[in-house]
Amino acid sequence: MNKNIVIIEGDGIGPEVTRQSVKVLNAIAEQFGHEFNYHYCLMGADAIDKTGSPLPNDTIEASLNSDAILFGAIGHPKYDNDPTAKVRPEQGLLKLRKSLQLFANIRPVTTYPSLHHLSPLKAQNIENVDFIIYRELTGGIYFGKKETSADGNRAMDDCTYSREEIQRIAHLAFKNAQQRRKKLTLVDKANVLETSRLWRKVVKETSSQYADVSLDFLFVDNASMQIILNPKQFDVILTENMFGDIISDEASVISGSLGLLPSASVGNGSALFEPIHGSYPQAAGKDIANPVGSILSAAMMLDHFGLNKEAGLVRTAVNWTLDNGFVTKDIDPVNFYFTTTIGELISDFVSNKIPVGVNKENIELRKSTII
Ligand code: IPM
Ligand code: MG
Repeated sequence: MNKNIVIIEGDGIGPEVTRQSVKVLNAIAEQFGHEFNYHYCLMGADAIDKTGSPLPNDTIEASLNSDAILFGAIGHPKYDNDPTAKVRPEQGLLKLRKSLQLFANIRPVTTYPSLHHLSPLKAQNIENVDFIIYRELTGGIYFGKKETSADGNRAMDDCTYSREEIQRIAHLAFKNAQQRRKKLTLVDKANVLETSRLWRKVVKETSSQYADVSLDFLFVDNASMQIILNPKQFDVILTENMFGDIISDEASVISGSLGLLPSASVGNGSALFEPIHGSYPQAAGKDIANPVGSILSAAMMLDHFGLNKEAGLVRTAVNWTLDNGFVTKDIDPVNFYFTTTIGELISDFVSNKIPVGVNKENIELRKSTII
């Protein structure tokens, strides 16, 4: 298979983690006889520094013409505390989502037995937690009319949704629920918001086409409590843009490290894959960031291409590192491995270069030669 992939390394730790995914993708390509062509593009603070724009036209153009985009991270502290900044890195990502019509952001939340001790929740509450969030990504308050009054004392962000915007993501979520445990929970605020009442109505109507999926509803305040109290109850969560932004960050810490979780943003054309963590500027350039979120995002990309066997191998390789304690500093602050080492280990596993029955000492030896 021949695929054109746009690589946007982005800000902070973005370049370091994305490079590990490219190593893994190259190992997959070699192992299975595929050809992945990479086209490097700019976005975010990095793009502002180099071109003055958070999303240069070249990036939009290349992304529209690609099969998929692998993205690192966005954001720089110099913009965060400056409400007067005219140009912001995040504008780049929002514009790319809109330009490519990436209307669904998909974030699986999985837990790993070897990492239960890192979770802020009790081990018994997170065993077998496995759910997936479908967050609407190109509508709602993020993209509504924004206004500040002339005197600067009043501001407004409009929240609008159309039936069509709700339907298209609802279909994706229901279809996925059919492949999973057949339960879909719509998270909204239908006791207060008109847009939420439209979501409920449209999702209920859509559910008649998916009779095998059970549908329930939760208000977002209750949902954020339930995600902590009993995360096992969820299978597929469907929600609008802003609620999805908030609950997906909340859900992401359940697994024990924000660094592990991947995401996909899909529309009708090219799709974008990125780890859910931010640019973590304090760690940039130190070779300590966790590349697993990015590598698992690359696995979601492989699934998106229909390369399920290849994606499965990447996941097996990741699980092998986690099970054997080959982890970065966020997971084990004392005995940790570097970003690049984890990338090597995972790509070597994919390439069959890790001997069967390898023990930790062998890797310790490799570690000293790799670093
Ligand atoms: C996310 C991020 C973005 C969002 C930011 C960087 C604009 O938090 O992808 O969840 O709010 O959507
Ligand atoms: Mg967010």
